[in-house]
Amino acid sequence: MQSQPVFLMCPPEYFDVSYIINPWMQGNVRRIDNALAKQQWRALYDVLGDHATVRLVLPQPGSPDMVFTANAGLVAGRRFLASRFRYPERQYEEPYFAEWFRDRGYEVSLMPRHVPFEGAGDALLDRGAARLWFAHGHRSVPGAAATLEAVSGREVVPLRLTDQRFYHLDTCFCPLDGGHLLYYPAAFDGPSRREIERRVASARRVAVGEEDALAFACNAIAVGRRVIVNRATAGLVEALGRRGFEVLQTPLTEFMKAGGSAKCLTLRLDEP
Ligand code: ARG
Repeated sequence: MQSQPVFLMCPPEYFDVSYIINPWMQGNVRRIDNALAKQQWRALYDVLGDHATVRLVLPQPGSPDMVFTANAGLVAGRRFLASRFRYPERQYEEPYFAEWFRDRGYEVSLMPRHVPFEGAGDALLDRGAARLWFAHGHRSVPGAAATLEAVSGREVVPLRLTDQRFYHLDTCFCPLDGGHLLYYPAAFDGPSRREIERRVASARRVAVGEEDALAFACNAIAVGRRVIVNRATAGLVEALGRRGFEVLQTPLTEFMKAGGSAKCLTLRLDEP
């Protein structure tokens, strides 16, 4: 029997929008409905728990964005490369995540202090080939690539993000099982789009339009043939269905006010 995938989540105890570090947060400071946020997070936890094992990290007061565990760092086997957040508001999270991994026997390394790198928000393993997709342009910097290559032992493919609304790679790009790819081409510059097209055959690429992109459809949790998202249009559900993927939708509107959705709220722990 194949073992279940494992993910890390952080309860939304202290979740809020208390500063603005991406365009989604604009106008949403202290506008979170806490009861609804808890209910939406719990629903995601339950759906994910039907198909995977979910582990938890203790939330910390003063770190309202810690719910977005995807940004903790990069997991590769038993190695964990801890993030260096671009904005001071999120740098408080760094030691808590590093400690969680250290306590569980991971070999923890740190990106140099002056090299912003936001973990699985910007670095995503391909699910078909031995490569790591890595985006810069808003949060992480190109200089992080060399360390990523050393830690992951994989070829790193740098991509440049150009649209402020899609400030992390996982807001617009999701590798799926079997080398398929769900993505929003308009979030990348021309050379990066060509790089993606050169490496992923057109039959395996599912390009979404603006409506799906803005509903965070690319911020998807891939669990085998299941794809968990906030929301997806009928056209997207069908396009993924034709390729053998089942879409599970669970609303995460409160977290979108902070600029995150399904995938950002999780970090895959059983990465090869
Ligand atoms: N407010 C958080 C930030 O701007 C949201 C992070 C979302 N995470 C992600 N992996 N896209 O840092």
